[in-house]
Amino acid sequence: MTLCSECRGESMFELKGKTAVITGASRGIGKAIALKFAELGANIAVIHFMDGENAEAAVKELEAKGVQVRAYECNVADFAASEQVTEEILKDFGEVHILVNNAGIVRDGLILSMKEADFDAVISVNLKGAFNMTKHLYQHFMRKRRGRIINISSIVGLNGNAGQANYASAKAGMIGLTKSVAKELGSRNVTANAIAPGFIKTDMTDGMPEKAREAALAAIPMKRAGQVEDIANVAAFLASDAAAYVTGEVIRVDGGMAI
Ligand code: NAI
Repeated sequence: MTLCSECRGESMFELKGKTAVITGASRGIGKAIALKFAELGANIAVIHFMDGENAEAAVKELEAKGVQVRAYECNVADFAASEQVTEEILKDFGEVHILVNNAGIVRDGLILSMKEADFDAVISVNLKGAFNMTKHLYQHFMRKRRGRIINISSIVGLNGNAGQANYASAKAGMIGLTKSVAKELGSRNVTANAIAPGFIKTDMTDGMPEKAREAALAAIPMKRAGQVEDIANVAAFLASDAAAYVTGEVIRVDGGMAI
């Protein structure tokens, strides 16, 4: 009798020998993606910004999975700094197979009171940061004729949200970026996809006012907040061979919140 790979205890989503660059992997969704990828055998470059203590703890947890791990502090919104960090990562790991643009911030407020600086900061980190990292690894992926780009957008980028014009614009922009990259690099065997999480329990959502949290939960058909692992599982699929022919797609992982 031949056992299927799952029955043999192997995962369908093998990432052995691959290297993943994950921005914002010091905590929350990014860290969960890093842990999942490491469990599947991938080496991990953790990018964070001003989150050294969490990054150090994440590196220890990741190393315990038996893979190569290194943390890099870099503001992804900074074009030159993100170029330098990708060069460093390529020197350290030799090759990059997967890029996850996950770093993100919020500066919520109605447009009436939103400061110009709050709009610019969110666009710079969430959207331009993803562009910067993609741009700096673009030629590498092209030359290797393979690569996976996974952008962590949001359902707010699909539907908009009062009080989040900056964030929704950035997240919608990420979807445009994803589809454009998918068209530009498809012939080079590079896929680009986006995940649109709904309401996921992390430091970011723990920081929301109680009323807003309750309203968000009430709007979820599945009646629970998502777990970071819910996003990590879909990211693992997109990074794996199982998703080889999936590109330019946006996958909602939201318990039905944006149906
Ligand atoms: P978090 O606040 O827990 O973690 C953010 C991560 O981004 C940290 O590792 C931080 O170091 C990094 N970061 C922040 N600014 C950076 C910069 N300038 N350069 C490099 N790294 C930077 O956030 P969370 O909740 O884990 O969110 C991760 C991503 O998922 C974000 O893009 C967020 O917009 C998105 N998302 C989250 C949802 C949620 O419900 N938590 C829902 C939809 C999308």
